[in-house]
Amino acid sequence: MENETHQQVLVAGGAGFLGTAIVNSLLENNFKVVVLDNLRFGTETIQKFTNNKNFKFHFGDITSPHDIEKAIVDCDYVIALASIVGDPACSLDPQLTMKINSTGTEKLIKKSIEHKIKRFIFASSCSVYGSNKESNINELAPLNPLSLYAESQVSTEQFLEENANDLEYTILRLSTLFGLSERRRFDLVVNLFAGKIANDERIEITGGEQWRPFLDVRDAAKAFCKVIQSDSKDVAGQIFNVGGNHLNFQIKEIGEIIKKAIPHCDLIQREDQSDARSYHVNFDKIESVLDFKPASCVKTSMLEMIDDVRKNEIDPLNPKYHNWKAWKEIISKNYIPYAVPDVSEDEKQEVLNTIDSGWLSSGPKVRQFEEALYNYFGKDDLHCITVSSCTAALHLQLLANDIGVGDEVITSTNTFAATVITILQTGATPVLVDIDPKTNNLDLTQVKDKITSRTKAVVPVYYAGNPCNHYLLKDVCHKHGILILADAAHGFGGSFDGQKMGTYEDAASFSFYATKNLTTGEGGLITTSDKKVADRIRQMKSFGRKTFSGKPNYLYEIDEEGYKYNFTDIQASFGMHQLRKIDDFNTYRAAIVDYYNNAFKDCPLVSLPPMVDFGSSTHHIYPLRIHFDKLSIDRLALINALSINKIGVSVHYVPIHHHPYFQKKLDVKKSDFKHCNEFFAQELSLPLSTKLKTSELRRVCDTILDIIQFNQK
Ligand SMILES: Cc1ncc(COP(=O)(O)O)c(C=O)c1O
Repeated sequence: MENETHQQVLVAGGAGFLGTAIVNSLLENNFKVVVLDNLRFGTETIQKFTNNKNFKFHFGDITSPHDIEKAIVDCDYVIALASIVGDPACSLDPQLTMKINSTGTEKLIKKSIEHKIKRFIFASSCSVYGSNKESNINELAPLNPLSLYAESQVSTEQFLEENANDLEYTILRLSTLFGLSERRRFDLVVNLFAGKIANDERIEITGGEQWRPFLDVRDAAKAFCKVIQSDSKDVAGQIFNVGGNHLNFQIKEIGEIIKKAIPHCDLIQREDQSDARSYHVNFDKIESVLDFKPASCVKTSMLEMIDDVRKNEIDPLNPKYHNWKAWKEIISKNYIPYAVPDVSEDEKQEVLNTIDSGWLSSGPKVRQFEEALYNYFGKDDLHCITVSSCTAALHLQLLANDIGVGDEVITSTNTFAATVITILQTGATPVLVDIDPKTNNLDLTQVKDKITSRTKAVVPVYYAGNPCNHYLLKDVCHKHGILILADAAHGFGGSFDGQKMGTYEDAASFSFYATKNLTTGEGGLITTSDKKVADRIRQMKSFGRKTFSGKPNYLYEIDEEGYKYNFTDIQASFGMHQLRKIDDFNTYRAAIVDYYNNAFKDCPLVSLPPMVDFGSSTHHIYPLRIHFDKLSIDRLALINALSINKIGVSVHYVPIHHHPYFQKKLDVKKSDFKHCNEFFAQELSLPLSTKLKTSELRRVCDTILDIIQFNQK
């Protein structure tokens, strides 16, 4: 039956050994083909199809519903192949195997139901029969999976049978494949021998008594086409063994076929009983119902493969032709987290000492740490007050400056919720402004425009650790008596015009959260040179408690409503040692940023983060801008692809005006603030921490460049 209506087939895993053979067959039969694949084995396998107008490629993975959604739209049929294939590869990481083979395929099934796909074809395997003494196993035989691969197939078959509802499905249990496709494999019995013979190597056949059905991959592909082209009554809800009765062989017979075809080859037969799998399969059903008969035989395909290796100078030992070796390489890669705290023995020992000291909450180490901070900033009249978090710091620096109901506070929409929530918690009204793309910090022109008689403060956010131009901001603010109360969560160790952040504002709040350049796990700091404000903060961070010199601390008085925002000796134990290293940490971060800048500077698909020339950044975030309009993948698909490659990234931030709560509260909408929206749409924060090694940085850059360049429109 010709496909004149150009029906569209999604082949999940279509860049693989069987996938490319199926794509070929479908295109030859005038189907439109969409391939969803994560190209684990390289991009060359789909090169042949890329100019075909009926071929579309989606970079992605079946473990991501988002990726499936992008690919499945407008498809009539789905062929499910994407999985870790073969027993040795599956055994490398059983959890990953089940995540991809079972859970991933289940996601594909659910999406197929949702999209009302006409027919879903699942590529299972005759290995589900495991070991069966019957000489002619048909589709009704009991299943006996003896490997994780077979177990994962059985689990998906069961899932389909129990959950397909209205989804019409067909299960194809494939013989052991051999032969040539766009993605070569030299780890399958017949292909392995072909590779060895081509290299004039000796062939060893171990065991030999076990039965297996064999099938050329191109014949297998034809079976999938036949199922799509068949009437529902013949295939709906059906299971077919795919192969030919005459292609059941004992492994030792494969040796005999080789010997006949290539008499001079050196063949050794060894005794080995370790492989318990043996199945002799019956293929009457597929022949009688679908008129399916394999066209190829082992001998011809073997000679063709030998010829291919020699003519194209293929190295059959290359890991990319071996599922087990390729997956081993993938699995052995370490995970590169987005951010890891840099904590050493010093911090650990200090924390243990603190525990032994009996001072678990705020005590002498907090005072010691605050003194060390004071020395670090090096400004005589500066007060350094530690608190439980930067959120607490932001809250207190507003309250201690008498900001509350009826006041307005201007800040950037490109920030974390804490900046705005704390303004709301004082009763004041946050007034959002857009960013200046040259700094990603608030746009000073807009600040000017938003000032009213009620404006009490501006909270500049030192995004990514970049300072604002303080002279310009001061010009705008101080002539109106407006305070500058910085959100310096990212800014510890940064400076503006030679002055440390935190020393030149009316007050500044820093974060010591787990991923920050200087961490105490959780924690925060307020710096201010205003003694009255500092005293008030000290009081408010502990319930509003006032103590008196000459009187014991327990004879305190509550003077006003305060909070429990205190910092602890355990946190201070961390902080003392982190503080000694912070300048080195920041220098290392600057070197990472240089590395990234160099790696990406010539790529037209990205823009580098802005560098300010009026101060030094702490490089808390590396916000690369990726031009997704030039790519065929979106950010989620890219993040997913990076995660599959064991690279963690992040996004900073979902702008304040995108959150439903703030939209209602501040009367703003998603389409407001053009520059921030453009930035957010492109932003991807790359891994950045002092634990990163050069080899890991190289991996991050190479992987990102590979993915985006491949997916360039
Ligand atoms: C810009 C900004 N402000 C405030 C905070 C809140 O910091 P914390 O978690 O220490 O309360 C963060 C946290 O990441 C932040 O990024």
